[in-house]
Amino acid sequence: MNKIIVAIDGYSSCGKSTIAKALAKYAGYTYVDTGAMYRAIGLYTLRHRLSEPAEIIAALPDIKVGFILVDGAQHVTLNGEDVESQIRTLEAGNQASRISQIKEVRAFLVAQQQAMGIEKGIVMDGRDIGTVVFPNAELKLFLTASPEVRAQRRYDELVAKGEKPDFDEVLKDVTDRDYRDTHRAESPLRQADDAIVVDNSHMTPDEQMEVIYGYFNRFK
Ligand code: DC
Repeated sequence: MNKIIVAIDGYSSCGKSTIAKALAKYAGYTYVDTGAMYRAIGLYTLRHRLSEPAEIIAALPDIKVGFILVDGAQHVTLNGEDVESQIRTLEAGNQASRISQIKEVRAFLVAQQQAMGIEKGIVMDGRDIGTVVFPNAELKLFLTASPEVRAQRRYDELVAKGEKPDFDEVLKDVTDRDYRDTHRAESPLRQADDAIVVDNSHMTPDEQMEVIYGYFNRFK
């Protein structure tokens, strides 16, 4: 089977990265979490207290985002520092959503993402993978689930990390982020015309992977 590019897009807390990781393992492909790249830049701007687009754009040449493997798991690096746990907070996620609205930030990361796919054999997840990064990807999946189901998943994750979230706040965060991601001027989240929609609101993790492996195996 020739290697293909799998583009996975969808709303936040849809399980995109879990699905993308599982599919990459199944296929023997490289997994790339593009949200982590936006989060790393978001973290940099929080640390350096940069809020104006012009100052964020001016800082881009000083920002190097990369990935390393730690015990088989992919961790994102910011200027060589493993920042995997620091980027997984609500604050860093919201900042990622904000800085991802800046055209120059997107161009900076999209170029790196396209370079990662040159040899194919890649599963990349994000918001604009099937529309902008790899419009010619062979397999495009668009994941969705109801905001309540996604908020519950995020809530459970935060509780598992020892945090004490308020469900209504988590739900508001999910709907606010959906709004920003779908209404921004630059590459808003939208389903590519040729993407397959997978609504996993009522699927178990195993059921959803069966469906997704089925789509992938069409390329065998
Ligand atoms: O998938 P995530 O929650 O880790 O993404 C964090 C933010 O980054 C998300 O709110 C929007 C932005 N993002 C983006 O604009 N384009 C991508 N390809 C991936 C993420």
